[in-house]
Amino acid sequence: MSRRPFIAANWKMNKTVSEAVSFVEAFLPLVISVSDADIVIAPTFISLSSMASKLKGTNVLLSAQNCFYEEKGAFTGEVSPVQLKDLGCDYVIIGHSERRQFFSDTDDVVNKKIKSALKNGLKVIMCIGETLAERNGNQTFDVLKRQIVGGLKDVELKDIVVAYEPVWAIGTGVTATPEQAQEAHRFIRSEIKSLYGEGASEAVRILYGGSVTPETVDSLMLLADVDGALVGGASMKPESFSKIVGFKRFGG
Ligand code: PGA
Repeated sequence: MSRRPFIAANWKMNKTVSEAVSFVEAFLPLVISVSDADIVIAPTFISLSSMASKLKGTNVLLSAQNCFYEEKGAFTGEVSPVQLKDLGCDYVIIGHSERRQFFSDTDDVVNKKIKSALKNGLKVIMCIGETLAERNGNQTFDVLKRQIVGGLKDVELKDIVVAYEPVWAIGTGVTATPEQAQEAHRFIRSEIKSLYGEGASEAVRILYGGSVTPETVDSLMLLADVDGALVGGASMKPESFSKIVGFKRFGG
């Protein structure tokens, strides 16, 4: 089955509102002719509103980087999926390893956030991935399985994109080798098959994330089970991110 490529920028806690808007102004003309991939940008909460007006009617979708699972109420500092949907977000990233590491997003919290996001009409980029210690301890598959089963408990798969981001490859300049990426992606697809069946597992898009650059994207996108990329550092400049969006198509 051919799955539509999905290339997403995760800006993390970078860029002011004006920097975000300048990026979009420079970036949109560079990707205007791209119609064969989903292009998504996830700025910080403060830029979402300005970005939503800039991206409306374009071929670039908007994502938040996180949300809370409650819809409203006394949760100082949090942002709800209802609010994200209202201001024009298409996606929300849930379970990024930095959230898991620094903000106690356990598999149970990830699961609650995914359910609430879907219920409120957002699509979800669910991140999973092992740490270096877990990889060295031969626990990669156990960790991925636990994160998949825990995060997706009682969840419909239709509006979910999975991002495999080995923690040791994030922001380190060390990209997983094509063999490591394909092995993990294959495993993730087989776990999804046992939960949701063959059709769903063939349809679900699995992104790779972790030090993806314009130089490494082609070899990753060639892999049978890699359907896209979630890009941090190399998504910060319009030229660099547009080159990633312009990865070499099969036969192209
Ligand atoms: P990186 O970040 O591309 O800078 O490694 C990826 C991510 O954390 O989503």
